[in-house]
Amino acid sequence: MITKKILSWSAALLLLVVAACSVPKTTMGKQKGVLAKHGMVVSAKEEASKIGLAILKKGGNAFDAMIATELALAVAYPNAGNIGGGGFMVYRLANGEKGALDYREKAPGKAHRDMYLDAQGNVIQDKSTLGALAVGVPGTIDGLFEVHKKFGSLPIAELFQPAIDLARNGVVITPLQADFYMGKNLAEIKKANNYKTPFDNGWKAGERFKYEQLAQTLERIRDNGRAEFYEGETAKRIVDYVQELGGILTREDLKNYHSQWRTPVTFNYKNYTISSMPLPSSGGLCIAQILKSVEPYKIGQYPHNGEQYVQLLVEAERRAYADRAYYLGDPDFVKVPTETLLSEKYLKDRMSSFTWEKASKSSEVGHGQIPGYESDETTHYSIVDSKGNAVAVTTTLNTNYGSKVYVKDGGFFLNNQMDDFSIKPGVPNSYGLVGSEKNAIAPGKRMLSSMSPTIVEENGKLRMVIGTPGGSTIITSVLQCMLNVFEYGMTMQESVSKPRFHHQWLPDDVMFEPKGFDPAVIGKLRAKGYLPKEENFVIIGRVDAILVDKDGTLEGGADPRGDDVAEGF
Ligand code: GLY
Repeated sequence: MITKKILSWSAALLLLVVAACSVPKTTMGKQKGVLAKHGMVVSAKEEASKIGLAILKKGGNAFDAMIATELALAVAYPNAGNIGGGGFMVYRLANGEKGALDYREKAPGKAHRDMYLDAQGNVIQDKSTLGALAVGVPGTIDGLFEVHKKFGSLPIAELFQPAIDLARNGVVITPLQADFYMGKNLAEIKKANNYKTPFDNGWKAGERFKYEQLAQTLERIRDNGRAEFYEGETAKRIVDYVQELGGILTREDLKNYHSQWRTPVTFNYKNYTISSMPLPSSGGLCIAQILKSVEPYKIGQYPHNGEQYVQLLVEAERRAYADRAYYLGDPDFVKVPTETLLSEKYLKDRMSSFTWEKASKSSEVGHGQIPGYESDETTHYSIVDSKGNAVAVTTTLNTNYGSKVYVKDGGFFLNNQMDDFSIKPGVPNSYGLVGSEKNAIAPGKRMLSSMSPTIVEENGKLRMVIGTPGGSTIITSVLQCMLNVFEYGMTMQESVSKPRFHHQWLPDDVMFEPKGFDPAVIGKLRAKGYLPKEENFVIIGRVDAILVDKDGTLEGGADPRGDDVAEGF
């Protein structure tokens, strides 16, 4: 069910009230987020945003700040921030050059297609999500060292130190962390481990929680480099513990892991040039397909979040997610018809069955036909430095606290990213996403993702840095927040705060944020065959973004749905 990782309605209402009270600035009737001239970091936790900002203030660039922010999130936000997971970065240098880094996890060498199925070919519940067998080879530390090698300007030890200090001195647990994030996950953390982890007594809001084991792990990596995690004492502790729990990860898997520089998916929407994450994330391709499908329509003239707007986006999303399920997988392993999927003619044909009168049925839409072609809690942060370098980074353990396996004498969680593979064609993963053979498990292969770190340019200048967690809802959250600015002239803060909706082909339902939509609009959509059910009113995503105004002012949009904070100078 797609709601597994999404906040409950009551928590949502509380957060929306908090949000309404905390919008910081009003300029000419527009609610603006934190404003700054020289640099900005927007992330899921105040500690991480402050640490990233301190690096920028001492002269570090956006990439230095990325490394420090990512490590700080691994401490302050352990449900998603990580060193035992992976992620993606899209960057734009001040000179306009763009690129992407894929530090996504890989399937271990002993992984195989049917490893989560029983003798009858049925999916074994929880095997791909909970415990040692759910763990993919982690990419985060390799990714950070790659970034430092290519773009870092400050010594790596200076970038590790703030996170080490944070871990040792402790982090004050917020009400949201104590309640939502730890509350429902505690039983699973106990089940996944064979010793008493520091989380066994849960978290209390306001308590200062210290992570001494993690501080020591980070110190070893600071002193011994990348090899500490992939070949050294930390590697040994990871593999020994995973194998003790019955997992298949080996020292060889860790030693062989390498992140990969890639070329972003870049396309135009009206005056904007959008660059987002390429495969193995579906994010860039799906956002491009959806935005190019709706571009010919007069979107700005439809009332925001009104009947026509929702209908148009849902129908474009339906078709893009159907293609995602059928065609997309790790490009190092499978052939994907990217060019066709993004061609104007193909997208026009795909939308030709759309009518305003009634909803298309997902069962009748299916994937597009391409002649001659043979044949998925996460966190995001956005950074801009004083020179204009920008990074959009989404990093994850997959679901909250990943596999819940907390490395003994290591002090960190390992991912459950294996569940983002299609563990059996047609069987939905944690996000309700289905997949095909293209995204089947194979040794060394990367699982398909929805993470969409994205950078927008307008007239050749940096305009927006954006991304969000939320599994399958990442794609639709990012694109709605972009449209809020492009088509409705919203500020960044207004845009990320606005209620969102989501559709992903299967299940054939539309999700809406609670209380965010006019009941009359919901009624009309229901009458046309869109299926908003009571359980589909849920909180969607936590977008952290930066908008660059015409005079170069940076506006941070920190999502009020979480503890997210923008820090600038
Ligand atoms: N694990 C969520 C994603 O990569 O889409």
